[in-house]
Amino acid sequence: MEFVEVKDKVFRRFISREQIDQVVQQIADRLNADYAGKNPLLLGVLNGAFVFAADLIRRLMIPCQISFVKYASYVGTHSSEEVKELIGLNEELRGRHVVVVEDIVDSGITMDHLLKDIGKYRPASVKLACFCLKPEAFLKSFKIDYLGMEIPNAFVVGYGLDYDGYGRNLPEIYKLEN
Ligand code: IMP
Repeated sequence: MEFVEVKDKVFRRFISREQIDQVVQQIADRLNADYAGKNPLLLGVLNGAFVFAADLIRRLMIPCQISFVKYASYVGTHSSEEVKELIGLNEELRGRHVVVVEDIVDSGITMDHLLKDIGKYRPASVKLACFCLKPEAFLKSFKIDYLGMEIPNAFVVGYGLDYDGYGRNLPEIYKLEN
């Protein structure tokens, strides 16, 4: 499908299923190598990362566990400065090699907040695996250890990413038409 309508907006196909699969496999290959014998705890960021996390974990061939955290900082198509914790973190992080799994980093405000909070639980290490980054929108300085791809500063949906809760089910990634 070249175009899709999500609510009141039209989006054009931007990242194909094949590209997505390739990116996920590249990240999985690196995690399989780097975390052999380390029993990592993946920490998916809800809601958006549930699709990427599900794809990624099925390509991990090492013993690993997964848990989820839910934060919200986004309303409509504009990032807001306010970050709200909805489902918290807990003691299971202590002493673990944590790999945060996120679908997209935009301003980075949400992730910056989350990474600082994770640190309070004294994990053995914390790395970040992120499907895509908008470098032009990025305001923070944390490192993305496992980055799938950089994308332009446009609003995208699909592959877990939503527009007001819709479009997460689209298997490919679509970009807002201006
Ligand atoms: P940040 O705090 O500005 O980095 O925003 C991060 C969160 O905003 C992500 O976890 C997404 O849920 C959401 N987000 C950012 N950009 C987009 C987009 O283009 N489409 C859908 N959601 C987005």
